[in-house]
Amino acid sequence: MLILSFESSCDETSVAVVRDGREVLSNIVRTQTEHAEFGGVVPELASRAHIEAITVLAQKAISEAGITISDIDAVASTTAPGLIGAVLVGLSFAKATAFALNVPFVPVHHVRGHIAANYIAFPELKPPFFSLMTSGGNTLFVDVADYTVFNVLGGTRDDAAGETFDKVARVLGLGYPGGAPLDRLATTGDDHAYKLPQVSVSTGDLDVSFSGLKTAVVNLVHNAEQKGEQLDLPGLAASFEAAVSDMLVPRAVEAAKRSCRKTMVVAGGVAANSRIRADLFRACENEGIELLLLPLSLCGDNAAMIGAQGYYEFLAGNIGDLTQNGYPTMDISQSF
Ligand code: KG4
Repeated sequence: MLILSFESSCDETSVAVVRDGREVLSNIVRTQTEHAEFGGVVPELASRAHIEAITVLAQKAISEAGITISDIDAVASTTAPGLIGAVLVGLSFAKATAFALNVPFVPVHHVRGHIAANYIAFPELKPPFFSLMTSGGNTLFVDVADYTVFNVLGGTRDDAAGETFDKVARVLGLGYPGGAPLDRLATTGDDHAYKLPQVSVSTGDLDVSFSGLKTAVVNLVHNAEQKGEQLDLPGLAASFEAAVSDMLVPRAVEAAKRSCRKTMVVAGGVAANSRIRADLFRACENEGIELLLLPLSLCGDNAAMIGAQGYYEFLAGNIGDLTQNGYPTMDISQSF
């Protein structure tokens, strides 16, 4: 079954063609660079940039897949969560395409899509398994009981890990998005250079909170600026990264153990972080948990992951219609 899939929930416009949820025939991703000068994504600019790009990207995805549009069996699109104006661009385009082709339209939860990227990378992978899902907008510990059955065991109570990386990177002068440059800077630093707070949430031992850590780094930088002190930037980046990893990795392992899963996958843009990957590798090895580390190219937003999850939503009968709306927030355990 060939699915034409769309992703436009934030600042990537992406269109893909995926066969049977596993084989990617094309996956065109356009990352919007126009937000860099503002230090973060400007929602209205994002929506407009999606509109400008989506037709050309759809044509490119079809031609790169080596198919014609009449070969498409279904159309899938990120439908929630995300910046609502941005979500609606891909969703409307996808519904119109499904209508024109007279094929089913499949609404897909963006975070389910991130996890499904693992079906592309690991052809043998089948639920049940455990996922550490950590991106710019979400940070969750998720038990994947089946292709369309998800149980959240914990997650952030405030900022997502990626949002925290971006804010800290901005105050360190690394530009936007800052996760990857901060990761590179940290490789040359001492992770004990600065003592930073790690927040645990008293009412949920598998929950985390990143806002205190973010504020601590911002205050540290501003205080140093006011006093004219020189900061050890690689050391600060490494100490920050270690604090994030120390909050995420032990909880991910504990959540996997509680859900009795023997396999852990990672998902989302922050899953590209080298410190988190190395710490997860060690922790999973110690606990006898098989760790599947997603290739970096499939960690960030892309439409192939939406096509992968769309296939399993279709098989489960989760098919939408042309009245399907988009939503800025939605629990991963809910279906459309
Ligand atoms: O999954 P994604 O593309 O978008 C969302 O669905 O949110 O994730 C983007 C996030 C950004 O916050 C970016 O800074 C972060 O992933 N990121 C990283 C790394 N590469 C991307 N964070 C830490 N280390 C990295 N190597």
